[in-house]
Amino acid sequence: MIRIDGLTKYYHKKPLLINTSFIAEKGQITLLTGKSGAGKTTLLNIIAGLQAFDSGTYWINDDKIDVRNDQWMSQFRNKEIGYIVQDYALISDYSVLENILLTSFYNKNHNKQDALDKATQLAKNFGLSEILDKKVKRISGGQKQRTAIARSLILDPSIILADEPTTHLDEENFKLIMQLFESLKEANTLLIIATHDDRIKLIADKIYRIEDCLLKQQS
Ligand SMILES: Nc1ncnc2c1ncn2[C@@H]1O[C@H](COP(=O)(O)OP(=O)(O)O)[C@@H](O)[C@H]1O
Ligand SMILES: [Mg+2]
Repeated sequence: MIRIDGLTKYYHKKPLLINTSFIAEKGQITLLTGKSGAGKTTLLNIIAGLQAFDSGTYWINDDKIDVRNDQWMSQFRNKEIGYIVQDYALISDYSVLENILLTSFYNKNHNKQDALDKATQLAKNFGLSEILDKKVKRISGGQKQRTAIARSLILDPSIILADEPTTHLDEENFKLIMQLFESLKEANTLLIIATHDDRIKLIADKIYRIEDCLLKQQS
């Protein structure tokens, strides 16, 4: 479980999030909505331990998260959090396969052949098999989005953070990703999705909205 209590975050002396409380649970899809600039990405970054906050508490299960304890959080993030960032953060000179494998390179405990098998299977699931050796700079926006999603799953994370994961997907791939999110949920993964896309609301267990620096639960 992810639990945030009374969190406040300033950016350049301007408040972004005030007294925010947020809970996301395993086996559930939690949505984060709000206009562009509302602070969705900032909150996901805080949850990923990539951005600090000014006050409040943040717990993952029974561990209180302090971004100053960077080593613990980066290890936890590497193993347990799959983060699909908004601009994909793919390496454009690397192939689709290399990008999917990327995080497994940093994980000493991961067997190379297992990672390769997993990457090949993920690529197959997301219709990327034909372009595995293509450099990312030569593929389309939708293919990049699917590569980023495949990459986030390579280490079987228990937490998935997805920032606007469906913006560049056509209807067919949209359905594929919805099925994926639902199967991850069934496998007891904790999913937090920041989105503008109203279609995702259909599979959400809980919806939060950020407005005027306040986070409120909508349903
Ligand atoms: N590095 C940063 N850290 C925190 N806030 C930032 C940063 N860069 C820009 N901002 C500002 O923070 C606000 C929230 O941005 P963001 O979290 O990206 O919102 P959203 O994802 O909802 O569009 C914006 O007004 C933006 O200008
Ligand atoms: Mg954003």
